[in-house]
Amino acid sequence: MCGIVGYIGKQQAAPILLDGLRRLEYRGYDSAGVAILSNGCLQIRKRIGRIANLAETLHELPATGHQGISHTRWATHGSVTEQNAHPHTDRSGKLAIVHNGVIENYASLRTQLQELYGNTFQSQTDTEVLAHLIGKHFDELEGEPTKERLQAAIRSALKLVVGTYGIAVVHQDIPGVIIGARRGSPLVLGIGKGEHFLASDVSAIATHTREAVYLKDFDIVTLSADAFEISTLPGGESGYEISEVEFDGRAAEKGDYPHFMLKEIFEQPDTIQDALRGRLSQEEATAKLGGLNMTNAELRSVERVVLTGCGTASHAAMVGEYLIEQLAHLPTEVEFASEFRYRNLPLPKDALIFALSQSGETADTLAALRESQRKGHRTLGICNNVASTIARESDGGVYMHAGPEIGVAATKSFTSQCTVLTLIALLMGRIRHLSTTEGLQILHELEAIPGKVRQILELNEQIRLIAQKYAGAQSMMFLGRQFNYPVALEGALKMKEVSYIHASGHPSAELKHGIIALITPEVPSVFIAPEDTVFEKNVSNIEEVKARKGPVIGIGTIGCKRLEELCDDTILIPACPDYLSPLLTTIPLQLLAYHTAVTLGCDVDKPRNLAKSVTVE
Ligand code: AGP
Repeated sequence: MCGIVGYIGKQQAAPILLDGLRRLEYRGYDSAGVAILSNGCLQIRKRIGRIANLAETLHELPATGHQGISHTRWATHGSVTEQNAHPHTDRSGKLAIVHNGVIENYASLRTQLQELYGNTFQSQTDTEVLAHLIGKHFDELEGEPTKERLQAAIRSALKLVVGTYGIAVVHQDIPGVIIGARRGSPLVLGIGKGEHFLASDVSAIATHTREAVYLKDFDIVTLSADAFEISTLPGGESGYEISEVEFDGRAAEKGDYPHFMLKEIFEQPDTIQDALRGRLSQEEATAKLGGLNMTNAELRSVERVVLTGCGTASHAAMVGEYLIEQLAHLPTEVEFASEFRYRNLPLPKDALIFALSQSGETADTLAALRESQRKGHRTLGICNNVASTIARESDGGVYMHAGPEIGVAATKSFTSQCTVLTLIALLMGRIRHLSTTEGLQILHELEAIPGKVRQILELNEQIRLIAQKYAGAQSMMFLGRQFNYPVALEGALKMKEVSYIHASGHPSAELKHGIIALITPEVPSVFIAPEDTVFEKNVSNIEEVKARKGPVIGIGTIGCKRLEELCDDTILIPACPDYLSPLLTTIPLQLLAYHTAVTLGCDVDKPRNLAKSVTVE
């Protein structure tokens, strides 16, 4: 999950590359670098740390030129050092490459290059091996240094590669040309007037262009200032379509908020509303989801549902499991995508597979999708990024319409995914057994959710104070039952991700089966205990923790005196049906994690070791 940006055209490349990298920094921020070509000279600048460090270097030692490639890194091979920062060059030092992905057979390729050709390497990275491999093929081809020769060298080298790549390549002796290629890692071509762009994500170039081509696996694109051509790795033309860039640059700004994470938490009344917009049919007391590309008859024939995703998306999938089972009475199961892609799950032919992914680029989720399709199952994507690979490769799906989520910790994407899953469960239920009255009731409750989320956000200051009180904890427990068990997992993940406090989520009843051994006065437990069908069971669990002097933070329903008497601190939120409670109970947990992280001085939007989109295995 790195980010790459390329530019060729009439403007100076450096400012455009830096601006693009800043917009991709959420994809990785261990190191950054540029290679800018000017007057036959390849100017390379690299720095570890944030893009700001690279900008400082470029200020001190400018690199002028109208053609360049750049990279912001999340380390996969090799530690975080300047040597391992991209761009990397071949043995001649004339060919430079930036790469997002993993070359799985890089070690054998490296050994071959070392032993057969005497190559020596400066870094520990797979990318440098790829640079040398392309350089070797380039050197072996006779003739003048031309774009055709570079294309041929890249093609020959990539045919030997096992793994994933999104790359951009320049050669010192071939000015005016940038070549890009992709397999398994996203790459988008931006089309300008007298200029062209390459980027891992359209957000990096959306302020410069309104037309883009989302490259497909095995595409090779050759850019000059005035033209581009797209072919395929085996050779020959590659069909492509030019899409309009739908990206609101303003949405990717912090505005008045100190962090993207807080902004995106506060956007949730609107983003939940956006996920519902145009999809509620009062007339038919159901949800209308055109993107599924399935008739009611096809949906009715589904006998089994599998929901798959990673991280927060997998927690949303677990909410979806309860939703679809409760509202549609359909057997449903959740699989971590990283497990699902290797597990040979016996499924009926008409099993329906949902891939949940905010970015739409998560490698494990994409692989799970492709494995499902390989076995003939219909696959549907629930994504936020409209042009993403998962969205494009699914047989259909439902967009989250949550707008760009820049904070590495997922917040609004979770509630948007849960909202979409509720609509899917409602639709599946209404074509099976749910009555019109029941359908209308669900619609009514859904429409009330954004207002209830607004009410919860008004508790921000109270939650901030609670976060400060417990910020010194070494570890925390998150506990919930039924629909709020996945919420407990999500709350624990948020706390881990942004405050680095070890936190774990469990079904409340599991406490007695070992977990309670960890309860001490220094280990706070967060109980998600709204007044629902299992409230009393949660109360018993809280009492077990209190009996061992464990501090308890209760997330409960407004007016619940019992919880206020029992817990050390209580956050009371509006009531709602149990199947909608994750849309509400998650909000205080997001704020609790956020304020804890701020109290501890953590980098909330770019937590250590993380990246927003995990496009490698
Ligand atoms: C959640 O806060 C993390 N950022 C991470 O677990 C994330 O949910 C996971 O990597 C899946 O990302 P996706 O939704 O883009 O596929």
